[in-house]
Amino acid sequence: MLDALEQLKNDALAEISSHSTEAELEGARVKFLGKKGQLAAASGGMRDVAKEDKPAVGAKLNEVRTAITEALDEKNTALTNAKDAAAFDGIDASLPSRPIPQGALHPLTQVQHNAISVLRRMGFSLAEGPEIETEWHCFDALNTPTDHPARNESDTFYFENGKLLRTHTSSVQVRTMETTPPPIRIIAPGSAFRRDEVDATHLPVFNQLEGLYVDEDVTLADLKGTLEFFFQEMFGDVEVRFRPHFFPFTEPSFEVDVKLEIKGQAAKWIEIAGCGMVDPAVFDSVGKTRDDKEYSPKKISGFAFGMGIDRLAMITYGIPDLRLLIENDVRFLGQFA
Ligand code: DAH
Repeated sequence: MLDALEQLKNDALAEISSHSTEAELEGARVKFLGKKGQLAAASGGMRDVAKEDKPAVGAKLNEVRTAITEALDEKNTALTNAKDAAAFDGIDASLPSRPIPQGALHPLTQVQHNAISVLRRMGFSLAEGPEIETEWHCFDALNTPTDHPARNESDTFYFENGKLLRTHTSSVQVRTMETTPPPIRIIAPGSAFRRDEVDATHLPVFNQLEGLYVDEDVTLADLKGTLEFFFQEMFGDVEVRFRPHFFPFTEPSFEVDVKLEIKGQAAKWIEIAGCGMVDPAVFDSVGKTRDDKEYSPKKISGFAFGMGIDRLAMITYGIPDLRLLIENDVRFLGQFA
């Protein structure tokens, strides 16, 4: 019996070492170690072994099983290694990898982040409001009369329930004052919507940045200083000019121009924002909703401003056509990465 087992071991080891595929190896495992394999058959022979020989035969059986198992494992590892080596053949793993194309922030996002960070340094914090607005927040509370052209269906997207897509971010001023007592110093970046035909300088969806500062004794000097500082942070050492204008929600109101050279052209004044001192009528509207005197124009004053982020981006980067900003052509966007 012992000799037969030794023979079985030698046969198995010889066969295993002659195999060169995983399938063959699996065949050998079944043949020698499987439930109906040769070792199992040999174990069955234990019944006929004399009692005193059993320990020796048992030990031999174990030795043979271990030897075959180890030989199978070893051969398996060798085959796997050979396969890996073949897969690597001709590949120099020490070469640097191919660069993975990296994404970058959209130029509009970059300009918006930049503008926000300048204003945050001046103590403004971010505020939000919905894009689907009530007429109250978008127009009435902002002292905009019912017959104002901006309220016309040909200028503004209305829903059947009377709500509308906000035409400016100024609605966030009203919402913030309705819920927060003064002093407040907020900025609200976000989308605005108008029924404009698409062309190089108009899109029906665009982006604005609104600002509002309300406290005791806020003056026009504060407004001018804030915006001058802001535009100089954005564009370098530029001249900033305030032209009298009209907005329903501010009195006095101004349009703001900066003097800039765009891409080699001679410097010229470019209109960039609207602003003014908050009209007392706006504070009165807010007071009615709040039903308190926190925003009484006798106690407080404030300034507000609003500008187009898309326009800031066009000026900052000398982009000639707004549509480039929404086409998502990587040849264009890659230039700002
Ligand atoms: N809402 C104005 C617009 O969309 C921009 C603006 C002008 C905002 C003056 C203001 C402001 O807060 O004071 O054209």
